[in-house]
Amino acid sequence: MSNEDHPSDHVPATTHDSHVPSHRESEPIPDPGLPPHEWRPTDVDPKAEKRAERQIAALFIAAMVSAVLFVVAYFSFSVGDSWDTFAGMGASTVSLGVTLGMSLLLIGIGIIHLARKLMADHEMVEMRHPAASPQEDRDATIQALNDGLDEAGIGRRPLVRNTMLGAVGILGLPAVVLLRDLAPGDTLDISKLAHTIWEPDMRLVRDVVGTPILASEVEVGDLINAAPEAMFPTEENGYPELEGAEEQSEKAKGAIIIVRMDPDDITPAKGREKWTVDGIICYSKICTHVGCPISLYERTTHHVLCPCHQSTFDLADAAKVVFGPAARPLPQLPIKVDGEGYLVAQSDFTEPIGASYWEREKQ
Ligand code: FES
Repeated sequence: MSNEDHPSDHVPATTHDSHVPSHRESEPIPDPGLPPHEWRPTDVDPKAEKRAERQIAALFIAAMVSAVLFVVAYFSFSVGDSWDTFAGMGASTVSLGVTLGMSLLLIGIGIIHLARKLMADHEMVEMRHPAASPQEDRDATIQALNDGLDEAGIGRRPLVRNTMLGAVGILGLPAVVLLRDLAPGDTLDISKLAHTIWEPDMRLVRDVVGTPILASEVEVGDLINAAPEAMFPTEENGYPELEGAEEQSEKAKGAIIIVRMDPDDITPAKGREKWTVDGIICYSKICTHVGCPISLYERTTHHVLCPCHQSTFDLADAAKVVFGPAARPLPQLPIKVDGEGYLVAQSDFTEPIGASYWEREKQ
């Protein structure tokens, strides 16, 4: 603002009354008589203006510091560090949330402060005009509404009217109940996500047909879609019959892919040196992004691709993610051969299968 037009130079002469036109006959609505405009301290006092400038700059600088702290927190805490930092939330979650939230909040406060204290304070005047529809249109609308109510008979049938209003009103309840699903994991049983039906010595069987798989039958380059033997219960194997949702759930969680490659191509993860059988290696079939079944295998690179969002995993290198949105490798099922040469599990998966979820590290 230049010295010539600073409000302090002409406060007494410039008032609301000089901006707002007085009532004229042609105006449909008379001047409502707003109080005179009052200049803010920052408009009339250069010291107050400077002080406000410094306050606003301090808010923006604090926002910058908070954003930098967000980056520091991101690299300082891993997901899963100190789960009980605050109300069951981990150090990473709390620090990232607080620092980013503070940064945004401070920017917001700074902008409000700027608008209230330093931005131009001119009053704008816009002539008002009648907003109402012509009287005949309003009468016609009311008449149409009354005709409709009469035809529906709602007014004459209070029982129907009241129950209908009750039914519509109570629809809000399901929405409130669904909020429970946002509760922290401790109130929900998430242990089911961490375990599958796999157990020691359970055979790996071909999907759909349920036949066991001899290690000697698997060729280098093969990819076999397989399942736990318990999904094909017989009198001989003695597994209990599962039904309904439980069957579907266990089937989905237990789905696996088996591939065979040159053992020299495999880079086993630490501690997993004995989880394979002569180049035969087994992983969960469920993508760790949002849980699609994967199986697009490229035998020369040992990469397997998820068709949903193109996450790509390197099966020769502990199924690490080499491309796409998945955040972690496919879980590996430790396998061995039984006395008859069939592939069997050494144990259940050692980590939750499927899409990542934030309580996963608690398992
Ligand atoms: S579900 Fe596999 S990449 Fe999204």
